[in-house]
Amino acid sequence: MSRLEGKVAVVTGGARGIGRAICMAYAAEGAKVAVADRLIEDAQETAALLGEAGMAVQMDVTEPAAIAAGIASIEENWGGIDILVNNAGIFNMASIEEVTVDDYRRQYDVNVGGTIFAIQAVVPGMRKRGGGVIINFSSQAGRRGEPNITIYCSTKAAVISITQSLALELAKDKIRVNAIAPGVIDTPMWTHVDALFAKYEKKPVGQKKREVGEAVPLGYMGAPEDVAKPAVFLASEDARYITAQTLNVDGGNWMS
Ligand SMILES: NC(=O)c1ccc[n+]([C@@H]2O[C@H](COP(=O)([O-])OP(=O)(O)OC[C@H]3O[C@@H](n4cnc5c(N)ncnc54)[C@H](O)[C@@H]3O)[C@@H](O)[C@H]2O)c1
Repeated sequence: MSRLEGKVAVVTGGARGIGRAICMAYAAEGAKVAVADRLIEDAQETAALLGEAGMAVQMDVTEPAAIAAGIASIEENWGGIDILVNNAGIFNMASIEEVTVDDYRRQYDVNVGGTIFAIQAVVPGMRKRGGGVIINFSSQAGRRGEPNITIYCSTKAAVISITQSLALELAKDKIRVNAIAPGVIDTPMWTHVDALFAKYEKKPVGQKKREVGEAVPLGYMGAPEDVAKPAVFLASEDARYITAQTLNVDGGNWMS
């Protein structure tokens, strides 16, 4: 298995959850992987699992200057970047009365700004290299709205739109831009999501997580590896004719 042999990948939010599973899957396919995260100790731990193929980079994707510095250090170390995975994301809930400017800005800065400015940072190098692959992270929450999740859902809908515009803009440079829209995946994020649903839907802690898993047509909550495998496919030559798409990886929750 070496579908990514010789490639250099950067995974934002790579320290844990889905990002970490993608880092492991890419390294297993022969890529060198920069684990870029704002949590440097967790990023170092994940990078250590990859041995020679791993490198930890401290990067807060809300700061375009930090993104640019991180990308420059990876390019300097490994000679360029072939694959960018914009996986870093945050979730919050609030009713319309409770929405605050700070929370609105924070979720947009990470989920939307982080995606846009990481792409801006890698494109010049990918052009020099003659092409590249970008994979953004949307969500089933980007396919339809949900009560009390106005901000998060709208950031994930924006990611679908950004993917389409930039796929068209960068097609001439042989840079493919796609997105993945996961359904419900068992990661550290879900502890936080479940606690918020417990508050908003007045449920005991743990109940929402169980319910959403049982409601998936395939019958269970996904594991991070269930998302990492399609992320390998989209990054590989097997997907060379696929761009501008958002792939649902959700056990059948959404159809489009
Ligand atoms: N878990 C799910 O059910 C699910 C469903 C749909 C979409 N998603 C999306 O998938 C992606 C990964 O989700 P996850 O469940 O693995 O989340 P997670 O919270 O378990 O992990 C997210 C990672 O992103 C990092 N991160 C957060 N803010 C950052 C910032 N400003 N700069 C750099 N790194 C930052 C965190 O430190 C963490 O390592 C997110 O974009 C999320 O919105 C997840």
